[in-house]
Amino acid sequence: MKHSHIQITGDGSHTLYSNVSGETYHSSYGAIQESLHIFIKAGLGNLHFSTSEIINILEIGVGTGLNVILTYLWSVKNNISVDYHGYEPFPIDDNLVDLLNYPDQLNISKEIFKLVQNFTGNQISLSNGFNYTGFESSIQMAHLEMNSYDMVFFDAFSPNTQPELWTPEIFGKIYKSLKKGGVLTTYSCKGIVKRSLKCAGFEIEKLPGPPGKREFLRAKKV
Ligand SMILES: C[S@@+](CC[C@H](N)C(=O)[O-])C[C@H]1O[C@@H](n2cnc3c(N)ncnc32)[C@H](O)[C@@H]1O
Repeated sequence: MKHSHIQITGDGSHTLYSNVSGETYHSSYGAIQESLHIFIKAGLGNLHFSTSEIINILEIGVGTGLNVILTYLWSVKNNISVDYHGYEPFPIDDNLVDLLNYPDQLNISKEIFKLVQNFTGNQISLSNGFNYTGFESSIQMAHLEMNSYDMVFFDAFSPNTQPELWTPEIFGKIYKSLKKGGVLTTYSCKGIVKRSLKCAGFEIEKLPGPPGKREFLRAKKV
């Protein structure tokens, strides 16, 4: 049995349906639309950076690499340098990567898109100001430097499917790795997620979600 297959979402962009978790990787209302809303606009768009800084970003669950590519485009557009670390224990098959329509939808080359599926732990430059390091590892096994990230994209499968990832312990590990003032965004607004984030020390806010989703969470290390 194949682990996952492609589905088309409401904005015309693809997502994957995982046969293992029984979930899609993104909202069926629009994959690109959801990622832009939760991670780029409410995440990066809410922080204040100068063009002389390097922004450190951590993603939990790189999957298709869509968030990496959207961040790369944001970095080029805003002339802000980014050092991006992505964790993914189950990289997707090369043949699926070839079929995803993000290069067409986002007007980037397939070569750039495929770079993001490198999980060797070696740093790769997508442009002068955008460095990416992918790790083939779970968040549980990750060694995260203390006080080193400005922004965390928490994009694991849902708390119903992966309850072990939405715990005070995991969020506590991430909290320690964030700089003071650093921010985490995630699509889930479940009670257990709010409680776990608060228990780890985060200050949380509920924000209006993208189409098809009432609310999502932004959490800050104050
Ligand atoms: C909702 S999907 C990811 C969506 C992804 N950000 C994208 O844009 O395609 C969840 C991802 O988390 C990954 N994952 C599963 N267990 C994990 C773990 N323990 N640590 C980190 N990532 C995990 C899955 O393999 C999957 O790629």
